[in-house]
Amino acid sequence: MNALENRRFILARRPHGTPTRDDFRLEKTPVPSAPEGGMVVRNRFVSLDPAQRGWMDDAPSYMPPIPLGDAVRATTVGVVHESRNPDFAAGDWVLGLNAIEDYSVVTPGGFTSKIDVSIVDSPSRYLSAVGAVGLTAYFGLTDAAAPRSGETLLVTGAAGAVGSMVGQIGKILGLRVIGIAGGAEKCRRLVEDYGFDVAIDYKSASGAKSVDALSAEIAAAAPQGVDILFENVGGDVMDAVLLNLALHARVVLCGLISEYNAPEKIGIRNLWQVIVKQATIKGFLIAGYVPRFAEGGAVVAQWIGEGRLRVDEDIQHGLDNAYDAFMRLFSGANTGKLVLAVD
Ligand SMILES: NC(=O)c1ccc[n+]([C@@H]2O[C@H](COP(=O)([O-])OP(=O)(O)OC[C@H]3O[C@@H](n4cnc5c(N)ncnc54)[C@H](OP(=O)(O)O)[C@@H]3O)[C@@H](O)[C@H]2O)c1
Repeated sequence: MNALENRRFILARRPHGTPTRDDFRLEKTPVPSAPEGGMVVRNRFVSLDPAQRGWMDDAPSYMPPIPLGDAVRATTVGVVHESRNPDFAAGDWVLGLNAIEDYSVVTPGGFTSKIDVSIVDSPSRYLSAVGAVGLTAYFGLTDAAAPRSGETLLVTGAAGAVGSMVGQIGKILGLRVIGIAGGAEKCRRLVEDYGFDVAIDYKSASGAKSVDALSAEIAAAAPQGVDILFENVGGDVMDAVLLNLALHARVVLCGLISEYNAPEKIGIRNLWQVIVKQATIKGFLIAGYVPRFAEGGAVVAQWIGEGRLRVDEDIQHGLDNAYDAFMRLFSGANTGKLVLAVD
């Protein structure tokens, strides 16, 4: 061990419903040394993602639950602090699956890759535009949804990190794009900042709109029906869109954030519409596209360079702010890809 301090955002107990402050604690430990063949990475930017809420539950998933007493798992961008791996040197910038902490121990064989920070305006871009989030938008739409120019695309969670990119990529591909988001300001941004054709607010002054009210607004915006639903939210919002599917519609199921903090799963009531419209629902997981990251990243980077794609980041600061920062995802306070800068 050396004398440096490592602050770690620990999962102290499994949240029941919405996470509370007491579900976590900030622990201070010495920085460990690099293991044989591994390294220690000093994290500079930590990705805060809705998926982390799922990893906190003891439930079957595509990854094991975060063990109690461990730091909360997160994708991070950082600098190699100490290396005992011939492929990495101290000072290299890397992207990896680590945790919300100052220093992460990387054992051999884990997912860690070098990144070229000279080609981006901030290393945090590897957590947004050219990282898993940007590529979720890219592959989720271009590959999983099989879009055809002229079709109508509806994106839920539209003003968020994934949603805002899906909508913009839809416009690049010649689709008519409708976005659903919470609040007048986010809806303004959908049209003015991201170029969506129509924005629908799923909230009203008295709370979330009813399925029927939302469905009526979608019907007015998409009189011929929705050809592609890019679903990030689930619950009532998805139920309202299902009532407006076009014949042979494709639903890309990317996320169900409205359910992540629900103690009981909500479920979908209008699934019958998938039969009526002979629609297809496809579950999408970005992990399946890792071998194609370079290909997708090049296209996304080119669109950004050409000024055709705008990617916003919501950078919060400080490990001691991790809980409040994480909860922005569920209050809807985040304005773009949520990232914690480890200052
Ligand atoms: N399948 C994959 O491989 C993959 C990869 C990345 C992300 N995802 C999924 O993509 C979705 C978006 O992730 P992101 O990282 O881009 O986050 P994000 O959209 O930037 O942030 C989350 C947003 O969700 C909305 N939200 C929160 N609670 C809600 C609720 N109860 N009902 C409706 N909307 C709610 C809020 O926007 P409003 O203010 O508009 O409510 C909030 O800003 C998530 O479902 C996530 O799990 C999936």
